[in-house]
Amino acid sequence: MTEPSNGPDIGSEDATSTGDDKYLGEWSSIEDVAAAVRTCTRCGLAGTRINAVPGEGSDSPSILFIGEGPGANEDEQGRPFVGRAGKLLDELLGVVPLLRSDVHITNVVKCRPPGNRDPLPEEVRACWPYLEAQIGLLKPHVIATLGRHAMNRFLPNARISDQHGRPTVWRDIIIFPLYHPAAALRSTKLRETLENDIRRLPEAVLQSLEMSAIRSHAETTLSTFTEPSVHDETNRNRLF
Ligand code: URA
Ligand code: SF4
Repeated sequence: MTEPSNGPDIGSEDATSTGDDKYLGEWSSIEDVAAAVRTCTRCGLAGTRINAVPGEGSDSPSILFIGEGPGANEDEQGRPFVGRAGKLLDELLGVVPLLRSDVHITNVVKCRPPGNRDPLPEEVRACWPYLEAQIGLLKPHVIATLGRHAMNRFLPNARISDQHGRPTVWRDIIIFPLYHPAAALRSTKLRETLENDIRRLPEAVLQSLEMSAIRSHAETTLSTFTEPSVHDETNRNRLF
């Protein structure tokens, strides 16, 4: 497992630009993104995959779950989190209660790294436009990252032991780091922690809704001050 700092620094607006911005905004629906992913050859993982795994779930989810990359089962089926870790995720979602169809689930890279190795920085970079487009189209209130690697794509220096279950604002979205369900399969204590954190997801969604209500109120208030001076010639002239 590589250090998070070896990944691309995509924790800030500037660093998220991969030079591939022409790919952004090219897709007008989540299905368009999925179709592009299924035939993608933008990185070496295309050569070893059985199936690309674009992601699945609601088209307007309040929560987007992001894992690191498909494993063997996901590669075989072309669907995210369908192995043992996925079963645990389903079970824990049931505690909230949430169904898989209420949320959306994807990964940082859409094709399986051979032997489940960490994706290389250039693979993450090549695949980032898809995740960026998915975030833009799905507009989730909360992004729940699964495991430290997915978390570090958004919060490069964060430590999962400090940040799990703690909402952090990234752009206009709340990032809610969670332990990876595969880690929770190996430790009862981590499983309890993951379950307790997942129980607090609805609270994070509410927090995000409050945040956007405040933001749109602020924008409306601001525009009543600025619009006449910018757009209305009469008022503009009066001001100058
Ligand atoms: N682990 C992940 O990170 N993603 C999957 O889709 C499955 C297992
Ligand atoms: Fe394309 Fe992403 Fe698969 Fe690489 S991992 S081939 S960039 S879909």
